[in-house]
Amino acid sequence: MKGELAMKVLAIETSCDETCAAITEGTNILSNVVWSQIDLHAEFGGVVPSIAKRAHEEKIDWVINRSIDNAKLTMDNVNAIAVTAGPGLAIALEVGIHKAKELAVKLNKPLIAVNHIEGHVLSSLVHQIDISFPAMALVVSGGHTELILIEAIGQYKIMARTIDDALGEALDKAARMLGLGYPGGAELEKAARMGNPQAYPLPLPMLGRENQNEFSYSGLKTAFWRLVNQFPVNQLTSQQIADLAACFQDRAFTHLTRVLKKTIYNLEPRTQNLLVGGGVAANSELRKRLSDLDKRINFPTKGLYGDNAAMVGIAAGFKADRGEFVKDINLIDRLPRWRIDQKIDW
Ligand code: KG4
Ligand code: ZN
Repeated sequence: MKGELAMKVLAIETSCDETCAAITEGTNILSNVVWSQIDLHAEFGGVVPSIAKRAHEEKIDWVINRSIDNAKLTMDNVNAIAVTAGPGLAIALEVGIHKAKELAVKLNKPLIAVNHIEGHVLSSLVHQIDISFPAMALVVSGGHTELILIEAIGQYKIMARTIDDALGEALDKAARMLGLGYPGGAELEKAARMGNPQAYPLPLPMLGRENQNEFSYSGLKTAFWRLVNQFPVNQLTSQQIADLAACFQDRAFTHLTRVLKKTIYNLEPRTQNLLVGGGVAANSELRKRLSDLDKRINFPTKGLYGDNAAMVGIAAGFKADRGEFVKDINLIDRLPRWRIDQKIDW
């Protein structure tokens, strides 16, 4: 990226249940503000789109102003506005897009539309420049489980993806079956630390079919449901919860790394780096298992695993270098199912 010539980007992210704004300059983060809506959705056990939309509308100006203040800038110092245009919840994405358009017109600044998954893919690039391309990227979040070949920044091929649930979604559901909190991934990790992953027989997903370039978690979820239901309702001891959590997490991660190894090692040309992103990568057991792979692994820094706008700003910086600005502001619209390998000419 063009070092000190890099643009100062105001990035906005509202694709799910976090209202976020950040200021970035190249891969440097000048500020990164995240307003989490978790408490609003917790009682429903999942994200409620209409509640997310309303909360984004209420908080968006606050996170933007805070990101400008934290970066010790004024709106006039910003060179471009970036926004997540997809994938994500349509009515949540709309809030960020509407605000970004409004600011781009008012301040007469160029607009950059960013793919949320590209943000996660590039989230580990902060201060890390020793990456050789082609490289691989693994995105593991509540909505996505994708292994992506980065031919160059901006050029992506999806090498493997989930055919049903995302890894984070599966962990959340397993945690719920055990009566743990929401979102469950982090709670399941905590419980699993005290557990024995071999305590119960729980089959590995797609055993022997790891070369199909697919992840699958719904079968594991069903098997886990059957296992949990063998115990009397609401009478699990804390050791049983720990053992069950450890078993689920172990099979979920073993499946992930088995598919990963098959896909990566079958690949020509060989890649050296694996860039990891997404909320589930906050899990230390998963990070340990990934670190055992014969790869240079790039993890995001704390605060950049889950959804945030800094990763959107970083991706936007690369797009700005390539001149990929929105040509007609009236064309930009939310793309709830935007794939990272789909080029959109706005
Ligand atoms: O990237 P993210 O914040 O949002 C999406 O784009 O989906 O990821 C959220 C997911 C949730 O499923 C959450 O349970 C999971 O990341 N997660 C974890 C941990 N922290 C968050 N999963 C496992 N272990 C964790 N420590
Ligand atoms: Zn995400």
